[in-house]
Amino acid sequence: MADLSTTYMGLDVPNPIVVGSSDLTMSAERVRKCEEAGAGAVVLKSLFEEQIEEDIKQARKEAFSPSAHTEAQDYIRNTALNLSEDRYLSLIREAKRSVSIPVIASLNCIRPAWWTNYAVRMAEAGADGIELNISIMPTYLMQTAAEVESNYIRIVESVREKVTLPISVKIGPFFSSLPHTARALGNAGADALVLFNRFTRFDIDIEKMKMIHRYNFSGPDEIHLSLRWIAVLADQSGCQLASATGVHNGTGVIKQLLAGAQAVHVCSVLLQEGLGKIQEMLQELESWMDRHGFSTIDQFRGRMSLELGGKPDFYQRQQYIKVLAGVE
Ligand SMILES: Cc1cc2nc3c(=O)[nH]c(=O)nc-3n(C[C@H](O)[C@H](O)[C@H](O)COP(=O)(O)O)c2cc1C
Repeated sequence: MADLSTTYMGLDVPNPIVVGSSDLTMSAERVRKCEEAGAGAVVLKSLFEEQIEEDIKQARKEAFSPSAHTEAQDYIRNTALNLSEDRYLSLIREAKRSVSIPVIASLNCIRPAWWTNYAVRMAEAGADGIELNISIMPTYLMQTAAEVESNYIRIVESVREKVTLPISVKIGPFFSSLPHTARALGNAGADALVLFNRFTRFDIDIEKMKMIHRYNFSGPDEIHLSLRWIAVLADQSGCQLASATGVHNGTGVIKQLLAGAQAVHVCSVLLQEGLGKIQEMLQELESWMDRHGFSTIDQFRGRMSLELGGKPDFYQRQQYIKVLAGVE
């Protein structure tokens, strides 16, 4: 029987399937169901930097004046997660009491600020690790790429200064030189990178002439972006890597491990088809390992990473030319 155990963020996990931050992990009861279904670890639903800020503002308002609040504040209060700081800490404590798999807290943030103290409270509440979902969407003409990237680095450094817990950083794919940024995040103190964040889809309602932000489920065809970057970054980022987006079956899990992933985050398919999908994926992984004579994941992890091929840029260019021009 193949041994599916591995490590993620330096934590021991019984298998590489992590239930990603989502509604599946927003209560201790749901986290318990994830463990029961066979998950190797869970990332709790995110707490947003703005929620912490909002709580503090709200407390001040209640203390001093009953003034009106903005639409944005309403959104954060009502739809983001609606967990106040203390409720989030209770979620961590209760989840930890309910399961034996690692429980990773999640902070969604855009700048290094006073809220990083909150990471300390998450650690004290018993979180096994912290995932920083850094979602900076550059929209200012005068802001350079270097400035945007330095924000990422400073956030990680400022959390790293405060906690010794494992830290993972969930980022989007839009960087000019992802390998350089990935290494810098590792140097700043990230133990793992999660590739990639999946942003809301921007759209326009042409009748109401209003902007629409939608979140829809991923499809299995969306695996390729993270697969490529896991293969490129494995061995050169200095961090463990986890894939996120588009893993919908055991084949997807195997591909990501072959590319060099330490773990795979899964959400959409579990929300659509149920948590029973985890066992199905694990069984596919196990029978593939048996078929290929692997008894541990480390025996094949990263076998298809581009670093093993020696020249990742040369390899990528060759494949590109081969596919588009039919030239070897
Ligand atoms: C309903 C829903 C809620 C989500 N909430 C969060 C969240 O609070 N924080 C976060 O980092 N990601 C969140 N995500 C993103 C997932 O963690 C994951 O990165 C993304 O869905 C891609 O993985 P998938 O293809 O398996 O769905 C959410 C996704 C869904 C579908």
